[in-house]
Amino acid sequence: MTQIQPFIVRRQLLATRMQSGIAIIPTAPERLRNRDAHYPYRFDSYFYYLTGFREPEAVLVIIAETDKTPAKHILFCREKNQEREIWDGYRYGPEAAREMFGFDAAYPISKLDELLPQLLADQPAIHVALGLDPAWDQRIVGWLNRVREQTRTGVTVPGKIQDCRVLLDEMRLIKSTDELQIMQRAADISVQAHQRAMQTTRPGMREYEIEAELLYTFYRHGAQAPAYTSIVAGGANACVLHYVENDAELKADDLLLIDAGCELDGYASDITRTFPVNGKFTAVQRDVYQLVLAAQAAAITQVKPTNTWNDPHQAALRVLAQGFIDLGLCQGSVDAVLESGDYKRFYMHRTGHWLGMDVHDVGEYKQKGEWRLLQPGMALTVEPGCYIRPADNVPEYLWNIGIRIEDDVIVTQTGHELLTAAAPKMVAEIEELMQ
Ligand code: GLY
Ligand code: MN
Ligand code: MN
Repeated sequence: MTQIQPFIVRRQLLATRMQSGIAIIPTAPERLRNRDAHYPYRFDSYFYYLTGFREPEAVLVIIAETDKTPAKHILFCREKNQEREIWDGYRYGPEAAREMFGFDAAYPISKLDELLPQLLADQPAIHVALGLDPAWDQRIVGWLNRVREQTRTGVTVPGKIQDCRVLLDEMRLIKSTDELQIMQRAADISVQAHQRAMQTTRPGMREYEIEAELLYTFYRHGAQAPAYTSIVAGGANACVLHYVENDAELKADDLLLIDAGCELDGYASDITRTFPVNGKFTAVQRDVYQLVLAAQAAAITQVKPTNTWNDPHQAALRVLAQGFIDLGLCQGSVDAVLESGDYKRFYMHRTGHWLGMDVHDVGEYKQKGEWRLLQPGMALTVEPGCYIRPADNVPEYLWNIGIRIEDDVIVTQTGHELLTAAAPKMVAEIEELMQ
């Protein structure tokens, strides 16, 4: 059983930061894939961050303290139901959920429409994620109207609607020790998956066979899901940034780019490795690979407090721009290539993103128009790449080389720590592992 204290502490912190009013945070709905088959269920990240509760059909209500009353944490969830539990499995029911997850009160989800107007009455503010789901927005408006209908009895309607994500995103951006421990475990599983992929890959296999090895390793070690659809891209497919067909044959002389990471207990990992299908880099492949590796090293060095979010990206860009000039892909000086944006023909994405419960995690990248400073507890990816599509002014021997190297990095007091350092990325390491 997950430790419940961190979730309670987060609810308390949110209640304090709200200052006053009521927050209403639903979990994600179950979604139909086709006819009677559902997508595997995944809770809403905000809801889980504050509850630790994984069942669908649940809503969290937090009421901030006032002069007269303490803060209150309320859960609405599915009732016990012997018949449904025979078909779908165990459900806590409000009473056990209240006890296990540390709520002040819990009610059946079927009582939501009846109780919410009562809870909203006389609250000065309502904190919700407006615009996420039109049906949910409609329901909130309905409850507010129900309160409004009763104003002649003396109750007042919340005068302010605030987006609770502003507060929650800032909380989620700085990871606690508990969160970093889970992220390390998720990263460890993904590292093993990439190692296994390198050891298994042989010319003539199909990309999906390697995807199967990744998924096998994720599930075998207790991860609940891939954090995103795995990219297993041989040869030219690696130049398609979001390639997910994963059905082509792997050719001996090609590189294989794998971008894959598992989700464990609500937290994502996100690793990319690129290696030769036959286990040995050609001279050209090695040159381009070493360039991306150098760009990544330069970027990772920049991950430290006092630097901004953008510094790692700028460091990677400078190395890549020089490399593109050396390879004959770009002309002129590094500054000119950066200024003109000519490098974007071969490197068209940014060097990373926040990482956490969502693979592209929440949190602002700028504050008051300036790139924000890195702070201890932030988690991010560092993932430069180089994608060379066939073109008239590109030497043919470089065509269809696609390389990305991606690691998960934590900002610490003194600099950074890599969660994914154990995934081989040096040329010699990879070639040895693949022997
Ligand atoms: N795997 C998604 C990303 O690297 O951003
Ligand atoms: Mn990424
Ligand atoms: Mn990735």
